[in-house]
Amino acid sequence: MSDTNLRVSNYLETPVLRIMTCGSVDDGKSTFLGRLLLDSGNVFNDQLKAIENTGRGTGSNRNAPELAFLIDGLKAEIEQGITIDVSYRYFFTQKRKFIVADAPGHAQYTRNMAVAASNSDAAIVLVDATSGVKVQTKRHLSILSMLRIDRLIIAVNKMDLAGFSRKQFRKIKDETARTIQSVYDHPCSFEFVPISAKEGDNVVRRSANMPWYGGKSVLELLEELEVDDSKASPFCLPVQFVARDSGKRYYAGTVISGSFSAGDDIIVLPSSKRTTVKRLSVAGRDVTGAEEGDPVMVELADDIDVSRGDRLVKSEKDLAQGNTLSCRLFWFGEKPAAAGNVCEMKFYSRRIRGTISQIREKFDLDTVRRIPADVLNQNEIGFGRIVLSAAHFCLPFNDSKDLGSFLVVDLGSGDTVGLGTIDSVESTGPTFPYATIVNKSMRASMKSQHPMLIWMTGLSGAGKSTIGNLLEQRMYESGYHTYLLDGDILRNGLNGDLGFDAASRRENIRRAGEAAKLLVDAGLIVIASFISPFMKDRSLVRSLFAKGEFCEVYVSAPIEECIRRDPKGLYEKVRRGEIAEFTGITSPYEPPVNPEITIDTSRCTPQEAVEQILNYLAED
Ligand code: ADX
Repeated sequence: MSDTNLRVSNYLETPVLRIMTCGSVDDGKSTFLGRLLLDSGNVFNDQLKAIENTGRGTGSNRNAPELAFLIDGLKAEIEQGITIDVSYRYFFTQKRKFIVADAPGHAQYTRNMAVAASNSDAAIVLVDATSGVKVQTKRHLSILSMLRIDRLIIAVNKMDLAGFSRKQFRKIKDETARTIQSVYDHPCSFEFVPISAKEGDNVVRRSANMPWYGGKSVLELLEELEVDDSKASPFCLPVQFVARDSGKRYYAGTVISGSFSAGDDIIVLPSSKRTTVKRLSVAGRDVTGAEEGDPVMVELADDIDVSRGDRLVKSEKDLAQGNTLSCRLFWFGEKPAAAGNVCEMKFYSRRIRGTISQIREKFDLDTVRRIPADVLNQNEIGFGRIVLSAAHFCLPFNDSKDLGSFLVVDLGSGDTVGLGTIDSVESTGPTFPYATIVNKSMRASMKSQHPMLIWMTGLSGAGKSTIGNLLEQRMYESGYHTYLLDGDILRNGLNGDLGFDAASRRENIRRAGEAAKLLVDAGLIVIASFISPFMKDRSLVRSLFAKGEFCEVYVSAPIEECIRRDPKGLYEKVRRGEIAEFTGITSPYEPPVNPEITIDTSRCTPQEAVEQILNYLAED
């Protein structure tokens, strides 16, 4: 093979480098990109002609065209002077091919920047030589760090306006390096280049205006950038649709990680059924193998049940199955993210409902530090936990970008409100139900009783605790093994960390319900006495129990009567303004709609109330 042929074949084999530009809004990304394309010979004459008279320059630069206008699809940018979406450009040099994503700088478009980043191997971050690191620069750097874009070129732009000063470059370089070091919690390589996108210094050609800079131009660095493909990703093909033809079934999808071949033994998740790949085609043609990014159609050797959203893998061990994800979240929804939010998590074609169970910390963009937080507002990045309603096979983002990331979709609007990357996967809760040798019915039959939860709800002072105590005494005397769970008792221990705002009350009731569930599982009859003012929280408790195991008792009394009784002097304190959010006065109480028992304690004695409950239980 001749030398030229060798060079051509090497060139064809070089993978495309996917890069992106980002930085704050006025730092000159589009001009930089225009300059990069122009000086690397990627602009046609007619394109250049179209922008001939767009110059807004001053002095000797007066008639220089506005290079930003070279970038495709940006009519709105021309009209408004801003970039509004991610634009992708393909270009090439003698050494390499590139796809460049231009991400907008405005805060409201940060989500597009994240999308661009998730598709990039490296990023060029523009920083203005005259003004340095801005909040948006820090935000972009934290998104790059979260998405593990570990190869950065920091282009310190507008060096012409900074008098091509070495001192100014150093200052900006030090400031940016410090920011990167605090944002990145893993190794990252970065190079600084002083440039003038407008004049062309150090973008493609080295600058004569900055002889003190001995380094390479941005394009030279890009041409040499090494992409780390060393980590072999496990094979994974999510099934996007199932097609039937002449009695045969075909499964279509895009390989999101690794590679596979016809004849390979594979496992279908989540059913864990095993089979073999019989035939494999890409774009209608049979092939022997396919790899990451290939859209494929697969025929399997056995007629097993595979549906949309299932995944084909080679080894279950490669992936971690779990329902609890410790993750980083970049939130772009208007409503903040907080514990208790139920959303849909989208892992390629599989959608799983999940609950944000914790927001722990977030990035403070002023100090570039992690600070404690329990909500994430729009455009914030934080750390938290998500519990999925079903187990999912995935990987930490560190091991696989594709298997370790997901989108968060709002259930009401269907909008994408967040992007998550997984730090670790664990299993908790219902994923692996664990059957004990001694079980609830064995424990119950030992006590000759039907274990259940009697849940009393009502205003403070309605008589719940009084009735609960009497009821327990009566049952004890009849030989039943009971346990009394009372709000005032739990709030002095297990729930001692909770207040009386709606979220704390929800957590209070959730824990009380879970504790009652354990006690019922131990074979006991549990009497619970909690204001439990919210219907939704009480239904959650009900949902933890089988039919016949849960009995809701509405202990009702007019608020005036409760105020008159005021057994703990709390209503008086509320009157004096010493207690906020007091149920029935300054915080709502939602009465049960269909309780098993209603007791009006303004019309009966505590003994009569207990009788009413015992009669109901005896009938049941
Ligand atoms: S719940 O609303 O979360 O179900 P819970 O039954 O555990 O309340 O606790 C209620 C008890 O906390 C009351 O009986 C009262 O003694 C005390 N308490 C103190 N502050 C408040 C408040 N702001 N609202 C209601 N109860 C309060």
